[in-house]
This record gives sequence, C-alpha cells and structure tokens, in this order.
Amino acid sequence: MNIIIADDYNGMSLKAAGVVAEFINKNPGALLCFAAGNTPAGMFEELIKMHKSKEVDLSSVYYAELDEWVGLGYSDRGSCCQVMFDNYYTPAGIPKEKIHIFDGLDKDTKTQCRLMEDWIAAHGGIGLTVLGIGMNGHIGFNEPYVPDTKGCFVVPLDNVTKSVSIKYFDRPLPVEYGITIGWSTLKDAKNVILIADGEKKAQIVEASLRGPMDPSVPASLMQDHPALTVIIDKGAATRIRGRFSPFR
Ligand code: PGA
Repeated sequence: MNIIIADDYNGMSLKAAGVVAEFINKNPGALLCFAAGNTPAGMFEELIKMHKSKEVDLSSVYYAELDEWVGLGYSDRGSCCQVMFDNYYTPAGIPKEKIHIFDGLDKDTKTQCRLMEDWIAAHGGIGLTVLGIGMNGHIGFNEPYVPDTKGCFVVPLDNVTKSVSIKYFDRPLPVEYGITIGWSTLKDAKNVILIADGEKKAQIVEASLRGPMDPSVPASLMQDHPALTVIIDKGAATRIRGRFSPFR
C-alpha cells in the first residue's frame, strides 16, 4: 500500500489527478472507473485543466460508472450520472460511446448489472479505479456486510448512506437502493486509488487502513490489493499519522 498524505484537499486533488493522468498517458484504451461523490470533484477539475493544456487526453480511455441510486436519472440533481456528466464527461469532451453508465431509471436492474459486467469484460477489466470512502466505509454502494459476489448488484442502502445522501440532492429523494460494481470486481482492477479528505473521515480512514480486513468496513477489503495507492489529506490522516513510514 502506497500512502500519500497531502497538506489539504487541493493537494490531494492535484496528486490524485497527477497519478490518474500518468496512468492514462501510459495506458490509452484502458477502462477507468471513478467514484462520483464530493471527494473526487477537485481531482476532476485538475484533470480537465490538464486535458485542456494537452498534458493528458482524457478521451483516450473508456469509463464505467461505479454506481447509481436506483430510481434516479440524469434529471435528478445529485444522481451519480448527473455529477459525472456535468463535472467530468461533458467538460472533458468524452465521447458518449466511451462511457457506460447504470440506468438508474430502468426497473430491470438485472439487465443493468449484466450490461455493466459485459462492458467491463469487453475492455479487459478495470485498469484503474478511483474510490471515495463513505462515512460507513462503503466503496461505491458496497455497503457494510455486502457479500463477496462477483459482478454488479443492487444493494439496500445503509442508514448512514441514506442520511449522508441529503448533501447531494436539491430536494428530498427517498433513496432505498443503490446499484453498484461489486467490491470483488473492483478489487480485480489492476490499480486502485482510495481518496479521502477532512477530519470527518479520519476515523473511517483509520478503520479502512489499519483495522482488520472486514466486510463491516468494505474499504478495508482493499488493504491487500497489490497496486493500492491511498491519497488523503492531513485531516483524513489525523488518526494514522506516525503509523506509516515513510510518509510521502
Ligand atoms: P463523498 O462520498 O466523496 O461525497 O464523501 C464518499 C463515497 O461515498 O464515495
């Protein structure tokens, strides 16, 4: 596990963007999978700046949407696809045919799962995934105690996720389920980056990185990934500083 601790959110975003851009430059045609929460927003901005200044070509790779709220679509502010299109795909000018999303409005969630699994398989698996860490340790919508099932599935949302969800939406939305790429498939990604910022995440970051690998904290299940990079800021690192050496 390579742990990078940046001074602040901007530093974390810059560092994460740099690592992603380097990966893209070395792996055109690869499949990427980005979390859509608040944490990656700064990284997306940096990547788009780099794309505009031709340091990286963000359209040289393919994208798989990590997750979606079941029942929400692009017209729902705060849905994963709205965030990803408005904050990343559209400003980066990614052609639609390079992106595969879960259609959260499709009641046939089985088909949505299969289509995503087919997309991932057709691109030789995920080359790089950048995952946020939820307040309950979830990655994507892999909520605590989600089973080790390959592929994609629908998950009943944990109470923590439901209460945190309010921050994304512009009106009350009664979300109950998420559709997600399963953690086992995410773990098969060739490269995994975990990002987190702020003291509010310090406890869950500690549990994810220093606690036992346990399904009660899904992010902890990534600990033994052979190419795991953790990029966090000092706030999120409050409870682990001094326990990893050397810091970078
Ligand atoms: P956040 O969400 O980035 O909005 O904190 C983390 C996550 O659930 O991935």
